[in-house]
Amino acid sequence: MSGQWPAILASLLITSCGGFRTVPGQPGGTSGPSAPAQILDFTILYGRNCAGCHGREGRGGVAIGIGEPVYLAIASDAAITRATADGVAGTAMPAFAKRSGGMLTDDQISAIVRGIRSRWAKPDALRDVEPPPYAASQTGDAERGAAVYGTFCSSCHGPGGRGGARASSIVDAAYLQLVSDQELRTLVIVGRPDLGAPDWRGDLPGRPMSPQDVFDVVAWLAGQRPALPGQPYSTALLPGGVR
Ligand code: HEC
Ligand code: HEC
Repeated sequence: MSGQWPAILASLLITSCGGFRTVPGQPGGTSGPSAPAQILDFTILYGRNCAGCHGREGRGGVAIGIGEPVYLAIASDAAITRATADGVAGTAMPAFAKRSGGMLTDDQISAIVRGIRSRWAKPDALRDVEPPPYAASQTGDAERGAAVYGTFCSSCHGPGGRGGARASSIVDAAYLQLVSDQELRTLVIVGRPDLGAPDWRGDLPGRPMSPQDVFDVVAWLAGQRPALPGQPYSTALLPGGVR
């Protein structure tokens, strides 16, 4: 299941965009710019494969803004390449590399990663500021995370994360089951500037979250995923399988 539908999705995205001159019943063009594997133009590749979820200019859509300068300051090319090539199991992020069942060559994936960085990264975005690390280098303390949540998040997301005046629930089972722990981490550090969600510095003005605060609040949030018994989805859908 999880190996199949991203490929279907990717092919839907590609066929629905049109533009290829291969007509059913006619031999496909053997040369020329429209041969899919030949396309190395970033604007075309990003627009056809990524913009539908990550938004125009990488500013965010149904999924986070991978062109946000704070995101690009914390995420390495290796991390962006890995997610793009292999997808994120158990989430809506498809695998794009041919070897993982996707539609893009390694050269096309490199062109996308290079393009994202060269167009949208702002090397000065975080001058003199040390953001929390992108990767979780340790397991957080969920109990302390509950208190961190109260300090930094409840003003918007309400008591227990169930939704408040300024932002929606972040503890719905349907949400938490389809988002990876890394994505929760990324969201806490980068925010959703396009939707008015602050980055790690802006939750409590004048008091940025520490790396420990981020580990702990993510552990607390991930701990709100429903326990396995009675879970409505197959465990194969969960990032990393059974937790
Ligand atoms: C069908 C929607 C969809 C499409 C199309 C899509 N993505 Fe994603 N992407 C997601 C979602 C959802 C996530 C978050 C997955 C998770 O929970 O970890 C994600 C995560 C990512 C991440 C990791 C973010 C992080 O936290 O570090 C990268 C990088 C990424 N996508 C790049 C791309 C690129 C490049 C393309 C186009 C080649 C693309 N995505 C196309 C939905 C999509
Ligand atoms: C100033 C208000 C504000 C604060 C403080 C805040 N958020 Fe948010 N957050 C938002 C808004 C606005 C959104 C996007 C729209 C929505 O979900 O209502 C959002 C979105 C999110 C999302 C993504 C939900 C989705 O659908 O993709 C997560 C996860 C999240 N916040 C977690 C947190 C955590 C954890 C904290 C504390 C560390 C926090 N937020 C602090 C306003 C806030």
